Amino acid sequence: MLEKVDEIRKAALQACSQASSVKDLEQARVRFLGKKGELTLLLRSTGQLPPEERPGFGRLVNELRDELEAVWAEREEQLFQEEEERRLMAETLDITLPGRAVARGGVHPITRIIEDTKAIFMQLGYEVVEGPEVELDYYNFEALNIPPDHPARDMQDTFFINERLLLRSQTSPVQIRVMENRKPPIRILAPGKVYRADSDITHSPMFHQIEGLVVDRGITFADLKGTLELFAQRMFGSHTKIRLRPSYFPFTEPSAEVDVSCIMCGGTGCRVCKDSGWLEILGSGMVDPRVLAGVGYNPQEVSGFAFGMGVERIAMLKYGISDIRLFFENDVRFLKQLGSEGGHLC
Ligand code: FA5
Ligand code: MG
Repeated sequence: MLEKVDEIRKAALQACSQASSVKDLEQARVRFLGKKGELTLLLRSTGQLPPEERPGFGRLVNELRDELEAVWAEREEQLFQEEEERRLMAETLDITLPGRAVARGGVHPITRIIEDTKAIFMQLGYEVVEGPEVELDYYNFEALNIPPDHPARDMQDTFFINERLLLRSQTSPVQIRVMENRKPPIRILAPGKVYRADSDITHSPMFHQIEGLVVDRGITFADLKGTLELFAQRMFGSHTKIRLRPSYFPFTEPSAEVDVSCIMCGGTGCRVCKDSGWLEILGSGMVDPRVLAGVGYNPQEVSGFAFGMGVERIAMLKYGISDIRLFFENDVRFLKQLGSEGGHLC
């Protein structure tokens, strides 16, 4: 019987140290220490022994039980720790870590000016339309009262594709395309890219314009002035003043170029406004009666105004940029600086 105790002890200790998981260990525990375990059965067999040997044997078995229970408890703790460690190593998501910031893109300053301008004019009931960048000479010049060989063509250094086709040098052809297809009242805004053989720190061969056109009965120069004043104040701030200077465009009569009080110095004079206190942002005027007649309107019945603004010019003023090329170099540092700029109009 004593040998039997020793045998069970050895087998139990081996099973305990070989258990590789908490589950294994529990199975081994049941096998030796459970209700029907080997040790329990051994204890029950005490009755088979001669009476004088029974107390000694019982103590021996109980001692073994105590020993095994202690060994089991220790091994269980050890296996539990190991399993926990393995589980944590295998887990790829640690929900207690702070999140990583996702790099966000920003709106390009030119796009932002276009979007802000669209928002301002949409509030006034304008509809946004677009026209082609590869344009017919007819729409870019002829229908705008600039016949072939007219000296006014030299005002814009145009990229010609062939005799009839060109890259539009202004957004004004969209005026004609819209008027050809609709009857007054008309109130449209046409943003887009335009092209000119022109390049220095304030001129880019590709740049953006936003064309505006209003045609209806009784439209006057006062409407043009009020509209542009409102635009300038919304775009540059409520203290902004505008100044209309007499100018010439073949498709408007009278024509005016519009200056905005310099936002850099507030009108006192600085490097950006060349000490004049004013900066030119757009060309405008009352639609020439010949243009209205050309699209089949009766200039006796309807009148209109139009304007064409340089988007880069407005962005340069608004953001204090002195070189137009910065907008197209895609230098992320430059774009980031302007990207963080708030004040997006809505
Ligand atoms: C025009 O293009 C006329 N179509 C504007 C117009 C529309 C007048 C409707 C009357 C009625 P102008 O060539 O001045 O006008 O150009 C308008 C604006 O575009 C200028 O005030 C300037 O801000 C901008 N601009 C002209 N050339 C360039 C260039 N190469 N790079 C960047 N901006 C330019
Ligand atoms: Mg001009």
